[in-house]
Amino acid sequence: MDRQQAAREMTDLIKQVNYYNKQFFEHHRSLISDYAFDQLVARLTSLEKQFPDLKRPDSPTHRVGEKTTKGFATRKHTHPMRSLSNTYSIEEVKQFTTRLHKLLPDTNITYFCELKFDGTAISIHYEKGKLQHAVTRGDGVQGDDITANGRAIQAIPSSIKASDLPDEFEVRGEVYMTKKAFELLNKKHTEEGKTLLANPRNTAAGTLKTLDSTIVADRNLSFCPYTLISKDLDLPTQASRIQILEKWGFQVSPTHRMCHSLEEVIDYIAHWEKERDNLPMEIDGVVIKVNELASQQQLGATSKSPRWAIAYKYKPQSASALLEDVIYQVGRTGVITPVAKLSPTRLAGSTIQRASLHNSQEIATLGLHKHDTVFLEKGGDVIPKVTAVDLSKRPPDTQHIQFTTHCPSCETLLIKEEDGAHHYCPNHQACPAQLKGKLRHFVHRQAMNIVHIGGKTIDLLSEKNIIKQPADLYQLTPKDFIGLEGFKTKTVQNILSSIQASKAKPFDKVLFALGIRHVGATVAYKLVQHFHNIDALKQASEEALITVPEVGTQIAQSVIAYFQDPYEIKHLDALCNAGLQFSQKKENNATHNDALANKSFVITGTFDGFSREEMRSYIQTHGGRLVSALSAQVDYLVAGHSAGPKKITQAEKLDVKVISEDDLQAMAK
Ligand code: IVH
Repeated sequence: MDRQQAAREMTDLIKQVNYYNKQFFEHHRSLISDYAFDQLVARLTSLEKQFPDLKRPDSPTHRVGEKTTKGFATRKHTHPMRSLSNTYSIEEVKQFTTRLHKLLPDTNITYFCELKFDGTAISIHYEKGKLQHAVTRGDGVQGDDITANGRAIQAIPSSIKASDLPDEFEVRGEVYMTKKAFELLNKKHTEEGKTLLANPRNTAAGTLKTLDSTIVADRNLSFCPYTLISKDLDLPTQASRIQILEKWGFQVSPTHRMCHSLEEVIDYIAHWEKERDNLPMEIDGVVIKVNELASQQQLGATSKSPRWAIAYKYKPQSASALLEDVIYQVGRTGVITPVAKLSPTRLAGSTIQRASLHNSQEIATLGLHKHDTVFLEKGGDVIPKVTAVDLSKRPPDTQHIQFTTHCPSCETLLIKEEDGAHHYCPNHQACPAQLKGKLRHFVHRQAMNIVHIGGKTIDLLSEKNIIKQPADLYQLTPKDFIGLEGFKTKTVQNILSSIQASKAKPFDKVLFALGIRHVGATVAYKLVQHFHNIDALKQASEEALITVPEVGTQIAQSVIAYFQDPYEIKHLDALCNAGLQFSQKKENNATHNDALANKSFVITGTFDGFSREEMRSYIQTHGGRLVSALSAQVDYLVAGHSAGPKKITQAEKLDVKVISEDDLQAMAK
């Protein structure tokens, strides 16, 4: 390759790497797999070695990670937070151990092997056993001060009591989300009609950068420590430091292993490659560390990574499948999602038959043809991705997939969002798929909670034209069910009484149930807290709307468009006439008082009589103060069902009184 070609390729690689880095670190989006990304960096590094004079001072191969984020203070790390050099090849692990023996010829080296947790690194500073600061890695020199968010993570102790605690120390480790917590969160997103989150890693990173630490507390993040730094500790190995962290109350993963030879290291790598699907969290490889700190110091570090450690990364699990068809789903807001229908294929422990193709842009980028064989990957993502086409298997004379032009439900001509990649069906007044979707959303547990009507009943009543709009539910009588199979008198009674009961649902649930685009349950709650009634909300300007926490211009514009649409107003009026709550219920004096004034509360678990938002509002409307994480200054921990035993023990240790929701209600009277 000549210099000119190399220069061109390097410019192109730098552009790509910078773009994917920006997407990942600033927007928490992984547009390509880690493996593909690492290949780009490896190619750039190799060209930079071959043509050192072409290496740019701002090359991404120099940098560790992300920029700092607006809204957080920046804090300098006491010691640089380096990254790890990584490899996908056992041969390079061998070279790593050989190099170590060369550099430390007379030293006995043991390897402390750990899993490489797929989350985001933070550093936590403790003084006299109290958490002082929590900081993200940032560019390795300084990061975002996310202390409040760190305190909101249950697995990070805010206060530690132990006789062998040094005055000051720093714990570094990975904040991650378990597969289970991620699934539950995505289930909630589905129920609320929000976009699905791509993977636990990006979700953990994104959550840590939210400015509202109550969201962090709700999201159930986990933390696994892997580094302990303190000048006042006489612990000479990584193993002993990990052991003491466990003793101090950190949740150390029991998966580490001490290895005495390369063979044992290779065995550890192979073991976890096989077992990774059975772990509660995602990992993307393992980390091999020199166990002795004295040897670590002798080996030192480059500006980017230590010489005493290496990450062996697993290639993403992949498979190939036949693209049988592309089908199109219509969401309740009219957005069209293309879905690849695939020949049943085994991948990472499950059988895949569908994969989302997201939008027309994605189909064009992949260059999909009908009957293509495609590669599927399940990297960090729970939902498989179509990553590429196997061109060698493309049948002759096949056509490009043309994105559908008409709605699969009502055949209306689709519209493409001006600044987005999505197509949508504009027929929101009559598209059967949208109407059904809106009705299903309206009755949902998180919305009006009309428990006796499920999706099937909605579909049936809607197909028979008995109901079209949510307001029609309130006009239903027993006569409407005559002749419908499976609707006995008792069933009909239950349906009608659950519809009646829904009239008492608070305004924020009603607002969410309306299904305004981009208005999820939390945004609806925040809007109601701010505007209190529908008239004030109808009249709100964009400027007024964006002063509400979590409301940006996209949500504000969507709310305004909704209230300017005569069709929506007509149905809204019908719901008002049916007797639904369109203002925040005025609490009478008996329930709205200052009985909880000057008291602070942390809530945990789920409650019988309240959603978590309702519980927060209940405490606040009775004068209480909500705190996101436990500390000795907190007065009460309100523990609901499935409250973590660790949290309760922590509260007891800190002398925080643990009470139930009934105790709280008794106190508030
Ligand atoms: S040690 C200087 N150990 O991987 C060494 N890192 O690619 C610092 N990671 O920034 C890191 N599990 O976010 C270490 N057991 C583990 C790890 C781990 C995950 C992450 C961490 C680090 C990145 C480097």
